[in-house]
Amino acid sequence: MLTSSLILHPAYTVGEVDPRIFGSFIEHLGRAVYHGVYEPGHPTADEEGFRKDVLDLVKKLGVPIVRYPGGNFVSGYRWEDGTGPKDKRPRRPELAWGVTETNEVGIDEFQSWAKKAGSSVMMAVNLGTRGPEEARNLVEYCNFKSGTYYADLRRQNGFEEPFGIKTWCLGNEMDGAWQMGAKTATEYGRIACEAAKLMKWTDPDIELVVCGSSGSGMCGDWEAEVLKHTYDHVDYISLHSYYGNPANDTASFLASSMDMDRFIRTVCAIADYVKHVKRSKKTMYLSFDEWNVWFHSHGAPFEKWSVAPHQLEDVYTFEDALVVGTLLMTLLKHCDRVKMACLAQLVNVIAPIMTENAEDGGRAWAQTIFYPFMHCSAYGRGTVLDARIDCPTYDAKNAKGVPYLESCAVYHEEEREIDLFAVNRSLEEDMAFTCDLTAFGGKELSVIEHLTMTNDDLKAVNTADNPTAVVPEANGDAQAEGGKIIATLGKHSWNVVRVKMN
Ligand code: AHR
Repeated sequence: MLTSSLILHPAYTVGEVDPRIFGSFIEHLGRAVYHGVYEPGHPTADEEGFRKDVLDLVKKLGVPIVRYPGGNFVSGYRWEDGTGPKDKRPRRPELAWGVTETNEVGIDEFQSWAKKAGSSVMMAVNLGTRGPEEARNLVEYCNFKSGTYYADLRRQNGFEEPFGIKTWCLGNEMDGAWQMGAKTATEYGRIACEAAKLMKWTDPDIELVVCGSSGSGMCGDWEAEVLKHTYDHVDYISLHSYYGNPANDTASFLASSMDMDRFIRTVCAIADYVKHVKRSKKTMYLSFDEWNVWFHSHGAPFEKWSVAPHQLEDVYTFEDALVVGTLLMTLLKHCDRVKMACLAQLVNVIAPIMTENAEDGGRAWAQTIFYPFMHCSAYGRGTVLDARIDCPTYDAKNAKGVPYLESCAVYHEEEREIDLFAVNRSLEEDMAFTCDLTAFGGKELSVIEHLTMTNDDLKAVNTADNPTAVVPEANGDAQAEGGKIIATLGKHSWNVVRVKMN
């Protein structure tokens, strides 16, 4: 049995969690939009064609912001195609993913879906094949009240009130050779700066996310150069990172969050360097607007130029859920700088929610990774405590000194509640866990619940036929003893311990 301990103190905090850290992402890709959120022929479809079964699952996740419409897709997108009468909308070859885009759904529909889901929209503009002109037109279409060309076009299209989209991404992954209209850091920094000026002159209330690197391995010079051009005009810099276990080396896979942690620290350091060089008073915040496990579907075939084929449909295992749990805790532990994050993506495409097309049965279900996200979104909104952790470590192929315990504590002062999230990374041993809360003033402690998710089979998955193979249970043994919480964290397990202080 391993042992670990955590010491918490109310005076030692990381910061307040911005709820948008629990954001997600829907791209026009595969079956994310069509047959995912939108399927007029589905038995649960509402009057606008949105699947209510999917909306119910999205609401369970509690997603405050959803990035849209891409992703790689946005770098060739003409936003006007997805507005106005549906029978007049063009079908286009979509070059990012090699399919046909029907444009049945665009910003007109998506903003309405987002309202139903209880989310706001994080809108990306095309800085690949287009530029500042089309970007500022889109801001005018979405946010201007009336009396100008694009605002009146929106009203003609049936939307009297502006959409009021506050958060905008200045393109997507512009450093990637795979991106339509990819750019050097200088080229991108200049166009992003000019687009930012026009967009903010159109609506000064918006906030802007400039593209950082497409992966932790690519970061460095890109951020420094891009921020050199844009620092005064943008509010966030983006980070993207995906993790996988193609070599079936679970010990290394479970250490993925160490890479995410390093990536965040590095981008903070670069942003602070530019802040210093510019003698700026503004702190640049981070938008980790694409993150997840993604590798199961690499190389899966699909029919070129078809409409909404099965693409990027990773079927997530139990061990993937453990990794997602550690990634979520890493984001929370950087809540002083990471203000937004998007689990990429939300439905069908590398997603916590899966659906069948109506003609194939029409079922919807939660993948394994759904649950740690749901738990953190429900219980992770509060003050992250700067915990002192003591636990043994192991060396993996990709990282040395990996702590067996990954944990994060969130304090809800008003509710007098502390929620502890924890993953025991050991593949062999359970862990005796002690959390010292004596600094909270000798309050009487009680455990509200100790949720666990574990499985003997690391590769266990949820499917339409067996949607509950991997689900959490309220069966943990956490209990209060004096000013401490004592619990056993099973080998390779996800845990949520909710503590009340009376
Ligand atoms: O989320 C899938 C893809 O991953 C996105 O389109 C792109 O931005 C990233 O490379």
